[in-house]
Amino acid sequence: MDARYPIRYSSHKALHFQFERALDISRLFMTKQFLLRLLPKNLRSYQPATLSEIFQKELSRNEIYEIMDVFFYQHLPWQFVEHRKYFSKNNRGFGEDAFHSMWFLLFSEFKPVNCLEIGVYRGQTLALWGLLAKHLKYSCNIECISPFSSAGDSVSQYKNEINYLDDTLKNHKYFKLDDPKICIEFSNSEKAKNFISQKKWDLIYIDGSHDYDIVCEDFESSLNNLAPNGIIVMDDSSLYFDYTPGKKSFAGHPGPSRVAKKIAQNRLTLLGGVGHNNVFKKT
Ligand SMILES: C[S@@+](CC[C@H](N)C(=O)[O-])C[C@H]1O[C@@H](n2cnc3c(N)ncnc32)[C@H](O)[C@@H]1O
Repeated sequence: MDARYPIRYSSHKALHFQFERALDISRLFMTKQFLLRLLPKNLRSYQPATLSEIFQKELSRNEIYEIMDVFFYQHLPWQFVEHRKYFSKNNRGFGEDAFHSMWFLLFSEFKPVNCLEIGVYRGQTLALWGLLAKHLKYSCNIECISPFSSAGDSVSQYKNEINYLDDTLKNHKYFKLDDPKICIEFSNSEKAKNFISQKKWDLIYIDGSHDYDIVCEDFESSLNNLAPNGIIVMDDSSLYFDYTPGKKSFAGHPGPSRVAKKIAQNRLTLLGGVGHNNVFKKT
């Protein structure tokens, strides 16, 4: 930056920003049009509904996934699309656009108050929950358990050179969100189990280790501390359900998928699945 020309610089920067934004919008528009053309005819007249209503329709998992994907471009408020874009950059987050639609619909319908995420990485989902509660104008208590290190498992490796705690907090600041309540532990430690049992949770998102034994423990401690009508969302868990992932999707890992199919499905009501996420409810 040339300090002698601050005004010129800032107007240049603003122009550049507007140009980038116009490009983003045109890209989104083209993607939306493209997706809509790919959509089977029976889905084209789709109107927004609640998550439960969508799950109750007689649709395949692949059709539900397409609805969520199109919802992202057609109906999701712009700030959530921006949020997704921010976390998609520089490996800041995992996930798929369709999951943002799922969380938007889930929060809009159930308005969970006590929310826990197991396995944080760099805070994409935590920050999304914070933004959703703000958007829906209700007070939400967001907590999490994660080692905030590069600790992986038998199927995942994470980069060493990131300070995961600082990064998660920085990402919250970027979106002007309060810090979440953080427990720096592996989810199966005594401290973490005590942390989980401090309250009854309306929503628990299990997305930490992908190893079967640990996912089993995560599921048990989550179930034991789930509020009436509470929801558990299991990530990476659709390998043994009838879902055929397309190019930009992924069905999951064996550990969480086994727990979802063999255990969670028998202990809770499976509302439905969006890609590799499965949404269970205590009824
Ligand atoms: C797939 S990432 C989570 C992504 C995050 N849920 C999101 O939506 O952005 C898995 C995270 O779980 C952490 N992890 C690994 N083992 C864990 C355990 N036993 N308990 C809690 N977290 C664990 C990893 O270090 C990593 O940060």
